Amino acid sequence: MNGPRAAGSHRALDGKEANMADTLTVPAVRTRKRKDGAAPLVMITAYDTPTASAVDAAGVDMILVGDSVANTVLGYDSTLSVTISDMAHHVAAVARARPRALVVGDMPWMSYHTSHDEAVRNAATLIRAGAGAVKLEGGARRVAVIDAIVGAEIPVMGHLGLTPQSVHVMGGYRVQGKQPDAAEALIADALAIEEAGCFAMVLEAMPDVVAANVTERVGVPTIGIGAGASCDGQVLVAHDLLGFGDARPAKFVRRYADVRGVIVDAVTAWAGDVRSGSFPSDQETYHLGKVPSSPA
Ligand code: KIV
Repeated sequence: MNGPRAAGSHRALDGKEANMADTLTVPAVRTRKRKDGAAPLVMITAYDTPTASAVDAAGVDMILVGDSVANTVLGYDSTLSVTISDMAHHVAAVARARPRALVVGDMPWMSYHTSHDEAVRNAATLIRAGAGAVKLEGGARRVAVIDAIVGAEIPVMGHLGLTPQSVHVMGGYRVQGKQPDAAEALIADALAIEEAGCFAMVLEAMPDVVAANVTERVGVPTIGIGAGASCDGQVLVAHDLLGFGDARPAKFVRRYADVRGVIVDAVTAWAGDVRSGSFPSDQETYHLGKVPSSPA
């Protein structure tokens, strides 16, 4: 149930929830294992209303309002700078698109690390902003906080492997689980957060065999990003896929467009028209006696 779409929709009508019929729910996502014949899950980031509307029109299953908004939109060097208020602001903007896709709100660094009460309150802030679930990073050491948030009836998506909020502990953005003991630890983490109640988990930047092993062993869907083709779904950051931004993309990014180039070309053309005097034309100008009652 995503924010505004859910307004006034809580009463059962003929055994069905009004307005939920076409919305992807957490229970529906939870069952999406490819080994059971399910189609791969598709998740993409969005941080604003028009982007959420466009990716929803493309038919994605989930929209992640990721803390990657820090790097992609807000100009920070890492995700450590964004706060729960920043995330709630972007979740609300995405929810206002009333997407069919499940909206997942990312819990930023320090929003679930200091106490379980604070974590539950912060998760609730994202739900009230319009998310249908929250995502948080980390393995076995997050079991108790996941349990607390799930205990407050808030669905939690996990995130293992390269967890950008741990950049300083990891010593940079590095592929995780390459050594046998690190791979074992990742698998143990996956089993632990599944047991704690995660309905799905992101696997980021790890060898494909490790992700395949996790995917085989957990009963909830895995959603890979730089984790190979065996996961139950894939996620990409929209700005990477669309070519919007000037950061060098990671190896796992496939670029489908050059949106930055489209914007540069369009604005260059418009600026040229302004400077040459060809914009605005007569058709783009209001005239006395032809002014409509309200501007259109
Ligand atoms: O914040 C984000 O965009 C993410 C994805 C990379 C999974 O967590």
